[in-house]
Amino acid sequence: MKAIYPGSFDPITRGHLDIICRISKKFDKVIVAVLNNKSKRTLFTTGQRLDMIREEIEDLGLSNVEVKSFDGLLADFAKEEECTIAIKGLRAVTDYEAELQEAQINSQLYPDLETLLMVSKAEYSFISSSAVKEVASFGGDISDFVTEKVEKKLKEEYSKS
Ligand code: PNS
Repeated sequence: MKAIYPGSFDPITRGHLDIICRISKKFDKVIVAVLNNKSKRTLFTTGQRLDMIREEIEDLGLSNVEVKSFDGLLADFAKEEECTIAIKGLRAVTDYEAELQEAQINSQLYPDLETLLMVSKAEYSFISSSAVKEVASFGGDISDFVTEKVEKKLKEEYSKS
C-alpha cells in the first residue's frame, strides 16, 4: 500500500525525517509530496527542497520513498498518484484543529482519501520549520533540529542577507 506525506518542508527537519522513516516501515511505498505554492513565500525554492529531502532519504537508505513536488490541491495530486492515504504529523494539540479541517476538506474533495495523523515523537514535538528558520536567522544552534546538510544550507541562505 502507498502513502503520501505532504508538506512545505521549508526546510525538512529531524521531526519530518522521523515520520518518513516510521511510515516507510509501514507502507510499501511512500511519496513525500513537496508543495510548490507560488503564492507562498518560502526560504528555499521547490528544487532546493526536493534536493535536500532526496539527499536525506538517500543517506537514510530508504529505498521505498520517492520525493515529488505538487501544485494545487493535495486531493488532485493524490488522485493522480492513485493514492488513498495521506499522512500528516501531529506534534501537539495545537496542530489538531488545522489538521482536522484539512483532512475533512480533502475527504470532501476526494472521498477515497483517508488522512492518518501520526503522532510525533516527544523529542521532536516542538520543532517546526518556521522555528528552525528563526533560530538559524539569528545564528543559533539548530543541530538538534535539522541534519548537518540542512544546517549548512540554512547557514548559506542566511549568510546571503
Ligand atoms: O508543511 P505544511 O505547510 O503544514 O503542509 C501543508 C500542506 C502542504 C500539506 C497543505 O497546505 C496542502 O495540502 N496544501 C495544498 C492545497 C490543498 O490541497 N488545500 C486543501 C486543504 S485546506
